[in-house]
Amino acid sequence: MERTFLMIKPDGVQRNLVGEIIRRFEAKGFTLVGLKMLQVSQELAQQHYDVHKERPFFDSLVQFIISAPVVAMVWEGDGVVGASRNIIGATNPLTAAPGTIRGDLAVSIGRNIIHGSDAIETAQREIALWFKDEELTTWNPTIKPWLYE
Ligand code: RTP
Ligand code: MG
Repeated sequence: MERTFLMIKPDGVQRNLVGEIIRRFEAKGFTLVGLKMLQVSQELAQQHYDVHKERPFFDSLVQFIISAPVVAMVWEGDGVVGASRNIIGATNPLTAAPGTIRGDLAVSIGRNIIHGSDAIETAQREIALWFKDEELTTWNPTIKPWLYE
């Protein structure tokens, strides 16, 4: 089953939005299979955002991600990678659609609350970067027949 990596950024944690964010993915019907809170090392932050290392915002982005604890998660479900990006909304919260996390809860691009993997291959890379195999669970929610035909 498809999996994605989500990370509630320091602003989401500081603004007490952890429960609100997890609620949205649970209510949708996706399955939480990994969860931990951590203060990220500079090395991990740089590796995570490696694709942006030439961009002007890279240093400030890394500094922000390591500035306070984050909540790292792995979620599972059919189409969870793309659907999570839709639930999260556009990168700039001012143009993110109402109903999305960023559209409802944030006002600036450098404080956009949550990260979500942008493709299946990216999700695989990020899950391996953030979680050890033994930190991930495999379980079968008993409500599955009520979620999937
Ligand atoms: P993310 O990776 O955090 O899920 O966000 P995203 O895919 O929507 O956006 P991405 O292009 O990957 O950018 C990563 C993060 O860098 C910050 N950013 N700042 N100042 C800027 O122009 C700028 N552009 C991007 C944002 O925090 C964005 O989430
Ligand atoms: Mg991205």
